[in-house]
Order: sequence, then C-alpha cells, then structure tokens
Amino acid sequence: MRYQLKQIYCRPWTLSGLSLPLIESHYENNYGGALRRLNAITEQLESLDFANTPGYVINGLKREELVALNSTLLHELYFASLGGDGRVTNAMSEALARDFGSVQCWRTEFSAMGYALGGGSGWVLLCWMPRDGRLINQYAAEHSQAVAGGIPMLALDVYEHAYHIDFGANVKAYVDTFLRNIDWQAVEGRYEDAIKVAPPRPLVQEEFGNLPGVGVEEVRAMLAEGKPLQLIDTRPMHFVSRQKDIAEGVTWRDPERVQEWMGELSKSDPVVVYCAYGFHVGCRTAIALREAGFDARYMKVGHSGWKAAGGPIRMQA
Ligand SMILES: [Fe+2]
Repeated sequence: MRYQLKQIYCRPWTLSGLSLPLIESHYENNYGGALRRLNAITEQLESLDFANTPGYVINGLKREELVALNSTLLHELYFASLGGDGRVTNAMSEALARDFGSVQCWRTEFSAMGYALGGGSGWVLLCWMPRDGRLINQYAAEHSQAVAGGIPMLALDVYEHAYHIDFGANVKAYVDTFLRNIDWQAVEGRYEDAIKVAPPRPLVQEEFGNLPGVGVEEVRAMLAEGKPLQLIDTRPMHFVSRQKDIAEGVTWRDPERVQEWMGELSKSDPVVVYCAYGFHVGCRTAIALREAGFDARYMKVGHSGWKAAGGPIRMQA
C-alpha cells in the first residue's frame, strides 16, 4: 500500500507567532519526509522474503516502519491541533477539570512537560484512555513511543525542527505560543470521537451467569474499615500445598468440603471466597454458599490477585 499525503490541516497564515517558513519547513521536510520514508519502507517490506531474511533485517525495517508511521500520524495530529485561539471550550474545560483538577492544572503540567523536552526532542500528547475512562498527558521521547490503547487528541511537537527557525533554543516561548494557537473546537471533536471507543472487554465467565464478584481493592478497603467480612481462601488442596503462602489473617478451607464447613459461618455477615486466580473453584464455592442462604461473593482475581495488589501474606508450615 501507499500512504497518502494529508493536506496541512490548519491554515498556516492564521497562526499567531508561528511563521510561514517554520510551518512550511515542518510540513514539507519533517511530515513529508516521514511519509516518504514510510512509503519507501513499506515498499521494501512488501517485497521482502520474510522466510529467508535474517531477523536483524526484519527488526530494523519493522522498527523504522513504526518510527515513520508514528511520525506521520503524530505530525498530522500536530497540524490539526493548531489554528485556534487557544481558548478551551466548555466541554473540554469540564473534561480537563475532571481529570487534572482544573484547566490551569492541566496547562501547567502540559507546558512543563514541553519545556522539559527542550534541548532534547519528543512529543507531548493529550490522550484518552478508554481503559480508565480518563485523559492523560503522555511524554514520548521518540516517534515510536505511545501509550498502548491511548488515543492522542492533541500533539505538541518538541523536536527542534518544530521551532528553531522562529525561536532558536527558546523552547519555552515556543510551547507558550503553541498553547495560544490550539484549536480547542477540533480537540473537542476528537475527544467526542475518542470517548465512544469502548474499554477493553471484561472477562465474562459465562457458565456462572450473573454471580456477583468483588475486586481485591474493595475487599481490602472493607478489611481496612473494619467491616464484618468473612474472607476465606478456597484454593484447591494441591494449590495450597504447592504455593505455601496464604493471605494474612485468612483461613483456608477445602472447596471440596464446603458443605461441611459452611456451618461455621455467619449468615448475617457477608462472605467472600477466592481460589487461585478467580475462575471456577471460587465461583462454584460462592454458588454453593449462596444456595445455602449465605450472602456470598467470589473475589474476582483470586490469591494471585491478592498478591499482585500487594496484599499481606504469611508462609504456612
Ligand atoms: Fe515535527
């Protein structure tokens, strides 16, 4: 395939404090250069005999493809970020305040990241993270760094080619000028599109229907608040004898014998059971307890999740 050159998105003569020679040089040499490299690399890759090419050649070409592709995409976003009056729209003010505290807090962080790249080079990106449903400012010291799953919607180019014609080494003046030229209407449009992207799909354990599960964070918060909670480790016997460690303050009960030990539990306080990783053993134990009238749930992440979350453990003899 051949990547097509995109028109410069902003109208360069409307920018304040960024000269035509700077923008033209940036678009023609750096954006255009990235796109031309990308097409040349793509052509090489298309004719490459992958089965008989040494790994280091494949690695090199695929790395350069990633660098050129991301440089192309980020430059398109950079030019599309400019052309406004720098006044944050109402919708974006609310979104920035929600995730950074205030527009000023966002601006201070974003600018400081831009200043900090002066003397080096890289990108500062405002990205939407579908996983967490929030905005984040991302640092990238080269074209090929991007937050996995992040959706950039505003790009500040801090390679010297983006400012030295107008600003010399004065990166601070450049970053401040960039901020005055942001087209927030366009950012808002991209934000509206980005938040429609669904977060990564959660794990569905279809065989257990709507069995209520609980996260490790919630369990630890309940314990920390001293809420009555009967937390029981129900890993299969062979896991417990192999792993040796157990959550601090928790007792182990054999899931095979749930009918025998459930009589020790109180029906008035909630019960949370868990197995090794949060799959069928914990679910089945929770179901057995619910059928017997207990307010039981399973901890979704299991014993491994307890440890991954930094939960305290002790070693068993
Ligand atoms: Fe650039």
